[in-house]
Amino acid sequence: MMDINNAIESLDWSKEPKGLYEPIGYTLASGGKRIRPTLAMIASALFGGKEEEVLPAALALEVFHNFTLLHDDVMDRAEVRRGRPTVHVKWNDNTAILSGDQMLIEAYKLLSKVPADKLPQVLQWFNDMATGICEGQQYDVDFEQMKEVSIADYMKMIELKTSVLLAYALKIGGYIAGASPSQQEALYQFGLHIGLAFQIQDDILDVYGDPKTFGKAIGGDICCNKKTFILLTAFEKADAASKEELQKWLLVSDQNQEKIAAVTALYDRLGVRAAGEAAMEEHTALALAQLDTLPQNEATAQLRSLAERLATRKK
Ligand code: IPE
Ligand code: IPE
Ligand code: MG
Ligand code: MG
Ligand code: MG
Repeated sequence: MMDINNAIESLDWSKEPKGLYEPIGYTLASGGKRIRPTLAMIASALFGGKEEEVLPAALALEVFHNFTLLHDDVMDRAEVRRGRPTVHVKWNDNTAILSGDQMLIEAYKLLSKVPADKLPQVLQWFNDMATGICEGQQYDVDFEQMKEVSIADYMKMIELKTSVLLAYALKIGGYIAGASPSQQEALYQFGLHIGLAFQIQDDILDVYGDPKTFGKAIGGDICCNKKTFILLTAFEKADAASKEELQKWLLVSDQNQEKIAAVTALYDRLGVRAAGEAAMEEHTALALAQLDTLPQNEATAQLRSLAERLATRKK
């Protein structure tokens, strides 16, 4: 399979005004796992699709994903990503907003190169995906202020903010290469479940990751009172005293290091990391079961190993 990184790096951002385009180049050159375009390419390969036919959609998905990160880092007050200062820190909020907006437009420009007979359907799915992410992001910020969030609410929220992008990447890749509707659905379900496992792992790494490999600051979710899988599980498992202690820390906003240390200690005591890992395993298994209904070839094996690798990822 072609190197998706080369294709992304060959996009030209040396345009004027520099204030708009430089942050785009900075973001797209800063690495990242490239999971979404990779999923689209593998889904296409599964049905013997031509790489040049799926590439525009694959690139659009990655540029779109990177756009969401610029705005997400403003919303989450996150200062480091991929081991580098975030765009709103290196430049400012206005830059993150406007360069992000332009990335969204660039994503649609790339998407418009999808084979003409496939474009109407792909465009509709891409729009559904984009709306899903905005809805998920809104729930994510709403939940910061809410006391009572159920695990079911959380699962719906991460399905929207994270899973739909992975699911549609696979579905679009398969569709462009000629997958049948039931095969498209299996790809979509595979993506939904790896996405849920992926976001639960992201929540775990936000507490327990190594900042050097993870590339993001540890404890950001704790500082923002994000209703993550581990915080909600902690509330479920806690006795009255621990619950009260957790509630108390949710009201603190000016002692970040102390708050991170105390909440992490509570998490350790309640064993919530293991609960998160169990949920991830469950969703990885559900994802893998979808593969049984798809053609069995080298691409299926790649999807299998990718699902397994994501569940144990460190970054
Ligand atoms: C970050 O996505 C946003 C989440 C859905 C957790 P990735 O972890 O795929 O970020 P990069 O692109 O590899 O940096
Ligand atoms: C990921 O949520 C969802 C989107 C970026 C749309 P997070 O806020 O957890 O992602 P990271 O941890 O900042 O990468
Ligand atoms: Mg974030
Ligand atoms: Mg966020
Ligand atoms: Mg996160």
